This record gives sequence, C-alpha cells and structure tokens, in this order.
Amino acid sequence: MPAELACFEDRCRARFPITEVIYSCPKCGGLLEAVYEKPAESPAELKSLWRNRRTSNAPLDQSGVWRYREFLPFLAEYGRIVTLREGNTPLLDAPRAAQFGGLDHLTFKHQGFNPTGSFKDNGMTCGVAQALRLGMTRVACVSTGNTSASMAAYAAAAGLQAIIFLPQGNISFGKLAQALEYGAHTLQLEANFDQILALVRRLSEDLGIYLLNSVNPFRIEGQKTIMLEMMDQRDWRVPDWVVLPGGNLGNTSAFGKAFREMRELGLIPQLPRLAVIQAAGSAPFHNLMRAADQSHLDPVEHPQTLATAIKIGDPVSWPKARLEVSVSGGVVETVTEQEIADAKAIIGRCGTGCEPASATTLAGIRKLTAAGIMGEDADVVAILTGNVLKDQDYIYQYHRGELRAPDGALIAPNFGNPPVAAPYDIGRIADLVNSLGQ
Ligand code: F0G
Repeated sequence: MPAELACFEDRCRARFPITEVIYSCPKCGGLLEAVYEKPAESPAELKSLWRNRRTSNAPLDQSGVWRYREFLPFLAEYGRIVTLREGNTPLLDAPRAAQFGGLDHLTFKHQGFNPTGSFKDNGMTCGVAQALRLGMTRVACVSTGNTSASMAAYAAAAGLQAIIFLPQGNISFGKLAQALEYGAHTLQLEANFDQILALVRRLSEDLGIYLLNSVNPFRIEGQKTIMLEMMDQRDWRVPDWVVLPGGNLGNTSAFGKAFREMRELGLIPQLPRLAVIQAAGSAPFHNLMRAADQSHLDPVEHPQTLATAIKIGDPVSWPKARLEVSVSGGVVETVTEQEIADAKAIIGRCGTGCEPASATTLAGIRKLTAAGIMGEDADVVAILTGNVLKDQDYIYQYHRGELRAPDGALIAPNFGNPPVAAPYDIGRIADLVNSLGQ
C-alpha cells in the first residue's frame, strides 16, 4: 500500500485507490485524505536528505514542495510534474508587529513570496500533478481569487484547460487580472462562493472536469509542506503557536495533518497550538467551536468582510479543521474590519506587507495576548497567506481614509499614510520635506 485515499470520518474510514477520481467518500459522503505507509528512511535521514536538496539545481529539488516528496508520496513517478519553484518562502522577523501584537518576538512565514503570490501554489502544483497523472484535460475551481490565480498559472504551464468560477464583484481586481493573464476561462456568477462551490462540484462530476478546490485531497498534501519547510527552516524547533486565517479551512486541515504526521514519523516531539482567525462577519468556524453541539456547522448565509479571500460562510473542510484545532489545543478567534485594517498597515510598516485576509493573524494575536491566552514570551509564527499587491484598492482607500466596512461604517486610518499633493517649487518642497515626521 504505497498510497491510498481514506475517508476522514472515524465511523467510516473506507479506503479507495489513489487514482480514483472522487472528492468525497462514495460510501458516507465524508471528506477524503491521502494516507501512506511510513517511509523507509529514518527521521535523521529524511532531515538531511531534504536539507541537502536545497543546493541542487534539479527542478524538483528547487521546489519547496517536491523537495519534501517523501512526505507526500502519492505519485508513482515524478516525470510529469509542473513546478514554478513554489514554496521557498521566507521566515521574517517582525519586531514592530510583535510590539503591536503584545509579543516579545514574532516571525512571519510569508506565503506571498510564492510564484502567484499566495500559499495556493504549494497545493496547486500537487493538484495539477494528480490531474496530469489521471489523464485529465480540464481543471476547474471556484475561488475568492487566489485559488483561481494559482490554478490558472499551473494549468497554463501544464497545457490544461482552466475554467474558473468567481463570485461577481467579490474578488480583488489584482487576482482577477492574474487569471485573465494566465489565460483561464473566467466565468463570473451572481452568487456567493458557497453557492458556486456546490454547483461546480456537481458540474465537475457531470462533465469529467478535475476539481481543484481544497476539497481535493492532493491540494491539502501540497499545503502540508508550508509547515514542513517552516520546521526545516527553524532547524526543527517546534513553535508554541502557529497563527493563520480561516476561510474554507483547507490550510487549517493541511497544517494540522502536517504536524500530526511529522510527530508520527518522529520528526518533531510535540504539536504546536493552532490559532485560526476569522473575520467577525464571516466566522462560521468560530461559532462552531463555541457551540455546545459541534456535530454540525451552521453556515453563515451572507458572510461579510472586506477581506474577500476569507468571505466564506459554509467552509467545506470544517470536520478536518475541528479535529486539528482540538488535538493541537488550539483556539479560534474573530477580529473586526477595523482591527484587520490596522494590523495590515502595521505589517506594511515592517517592510513586509500582505493582503487583508493575512492581516487577521496579527489582529488575532493582539486579541489573544490581551486576553492572556497567548503569553508575551510565546514563540509564535504567523502565516501571511497573500502578497501585498493582491488588493491595492483596499490599501489606497485605507490610507486616504476612504475605506468603508461592509455595513458602511468608515474605517479609521489609524496608521494612514496618504499621498501628499506638493507644489512644483523647490523652496516650498524643501520646507515640506524638512517638516516630515518619521
Ligand atoms: N488567505 C488568503 C489570502 C486566501 O486566499 C485564503 C483562501 C485564505 C487565507 C483562507 O484559506 O480557505 O484554506 O482557510 N482563499 C480561497 C480562494 C478560498 O479561493 O482563493 P483556507
């Protein structure tokens, strides 16, 4: 049994061949996950193999996903992989953000350094590899923007037809522009993300199009490497906390699975705690984790947030995310639109920058330290999921004091830095320049 698909539901755990084209368990409807036999190498051998590949010029070794291929051995052969050298994202110290968040130290793992500017690339190289292995010619997804940008790029590089479904008016222009430039067929629908996903799941099965949303277990396998690479970069020192935004909850599922598997393989001794942060107007997972009955998730019918990447009311991967937060002793927190906007501006001032959804992390850290849940001396890594250039309208409006929350309330530009109109006059400009603050 080199690799199989398994139903995630404890009461079922049915197994299926790894090459079966299914996105949920045919027996019980549960989510699917990839399962493997233990690799032949010892933990020490794996660590040195992965570290040594960093100096290799082979494309697969240069990928921050495929370098770790023993950790996601779902392919039978590696000849047809398309890599854009995804992963390889830095760990950045951010003293200013640490101070804002109430911490002595804070490190960002910045997934915005990926080829299409978000963490989706880690999973997409795997999803597209599986599509090629299965002989698929068409791939599809519904997206709040980043999945579509990533799928469009990898499909183009692989010579697959890409069909993208977007909630009209609800994705940032930068992400839409990427999908167009990479040549994807882009359909804008008058419906929200959750409604479109339900439709696309049926459509893909009816038409035999390969579905590349995060319900696809191979996307999750690729996203595991975000945590594996982070641990490699930290010389395998486990942080106290990993903080990430929660939308459709694919990343929460992937990170939790990665840490549990690292522990099972003897690569790390214990799990870090996961802190999942949602926008207050789009927080079904937060509601679930506070409910007395956690056996079903009540969708938020009309999710609202300017962080459009995580504007999702009915997250598909909630059963996996529920397990991962629970076994890691984690927490789920919400943050307001104002808190997201201010945290985002502070991340910008670190010279780092990120898109709105990513800034929920720092806003959440600030709340968790204030509540005493996260200690000020905790070792914390926050995941910045998308690049600062993904949503430029938001930035411009915030700094000019024109950003409005979905309920119409004006967001205060507490860390605003608006452009200043200046006269074409060297004397007056000199006075102006000398009067500027830090
Ligand atoms: N951050 C960014 C920048 C995202 O694009 C997403 C999800 C998330 C966080 C949430 O991650 O869904 O794994 O909990 N974007 C998806 C998309 C839904 O279509 O691009 P999640």
